[in-house]
Amino acid sequence: MFFSGTATTTSQLEWTMTELMRHPECMKKLQDEINSVSTHNSNVTEKEVEKMDYLHCVIKEGLRLHPSGPLLTRLSTEDVQLKGYDIAAGTQVIINACALQRNPSIWGHDAEEYRPERHFGLNLDFNGTDSKFVPFGARRRLCPGIGFSLVLSKLTLANLVKRFTWRLKVGPEGDDKPDLVEASGIDVCRKFPLIVFPSLVHA
Ligand code: HEM
Repeated sequence: MFFSGTATTTSQLEWTMTELMRHPECMKKLQDEINSVSTHNSNVTEKEVEKMDYLHCVIKEGLRLHPSGPLLTRLSTEDVQLKGYDIAAGTQVIINACALQRNPSIWGHDAEEYRPERHFGLNLDFNGTDSKFVPFGARRRLCPGIGFSLVLSKLTLANLVKRFTWRLKVGPEGDDKPDLVEASGIDVCRKFPLIVFPSLVHA
């Protein structure tokens, strides 16, 4: 419970921030949306976050490319045939969510690219009923923490982006981008921590 509820959301935020630092045009679009919805000089609220459609797409795209739990496990309860393979009852089956979520036949030729806009008007969602997009798993073993995690990650990201501008380096900006090297393990977090520097927007 502690692992599922903490490492997943922090890793998701770190990957999302990584992608935003790699795509300044997306960061700018997100900043514009946040500032147009949350016009006061205080923290972004939960109610405001609900109105931020681009923020929702940013979170979804982060989860698509970097699911914290990329391998789902299931036990087959009866003998089945799948694509010509015989799977005996009692077999441990491992589902590669990461491969599904980067599959060009599902997501198009740019499946490997970070493009939050793709989620506008798209019918694929991560509520566990669609086996093509499963960052929270699927069906009866679906993650019970989805709602909690979404509120937390959206609120945290929205406030980090509203309050600060972010740079990779201290001093004049370079054109470096943070790497995408993954650590190996049951949860896929960054191998090296993301180091970014904030400066206050409303100083
Ligand atoms: C970005 C955040 C999160 C991601 C990507 C995530 C992902 C997942 C995945 C992939 C599973 C396995 C589902 C399956 O096998 O079909 C799972 C299970 C679970 N998650 Fe999450 N999770 C997140 C946040 C949370 C939070 C915040 C909580 C609790 C507060 C939580 C609690 C759990 C629990 C208890 C299970 C086990 C459910 C079971 O075994 O039936 N998760 N999660």
